[in-house]
Amino acid sequence: MSAAATDTTKASLFDRIGGEAGVRDVVERFYDLMEHDPTYADLRAMHDADLLPMRVSLTQFLSAWLGGPRTWFEERPGACIMSAHRAMPIDRRTAAQWVHAMSRAMAESRVEPELGTQMQQAFLRMANGMMMR
Ligand code: HEM
Repeated sequence: MSAAATDTTKASLFDRIGGEAGVRDVVERFYDLMEHDPTYADLRAMHDADLLPMRVSLTQFLSAWLGGPRTWFEERPGACIMSAHRAMPIDRRTAAQWVHAMSRAMAESRVEPELGTQMQQAFLRMANGMMMR
């Protein structure tokens, strides 16, 4: 890891999570949990049978969101993650499952606790905004 990546006062959040490999670890764990743990059955049921495209897409989105490469936005000019979820029937149960699985994925991938808490708070706000009123 470079000096910049370990200096938390200067490093971007993307550096702090370990770059693309760090983001990918979290995303792989997130979809593995969704795929194999019945706790997330309702969330799993909303997704396509093949989760591979989502593994790529969420890795790219989170990389950009954390200050890394902007591929997700470059490939979707004008896209907004909140709008992308507007037509989805997201309720309290599926929103809570998403946030719970992501929180576990971050902890199990050893995201540093302070960064994990910061991300968790942002995900909670996003998930609340994505729920159907
Ligand atoms: C609130 C709970 C959430 C639920 C229930 C949910 C559900 C879904 C579903 C069903 C899809 C489509 C999957 C498919 O086609 O197989 C999707 C796509 C996606 N979601 Fe979520 N989502 C939630 C929150 C979030 C949050 C907080 C983020 C970002 C931090 C996010 C990022 C994405 C991305 C990047 C895609 C792919 C969109 C694309 O690349 O075009 N989701 N979500």
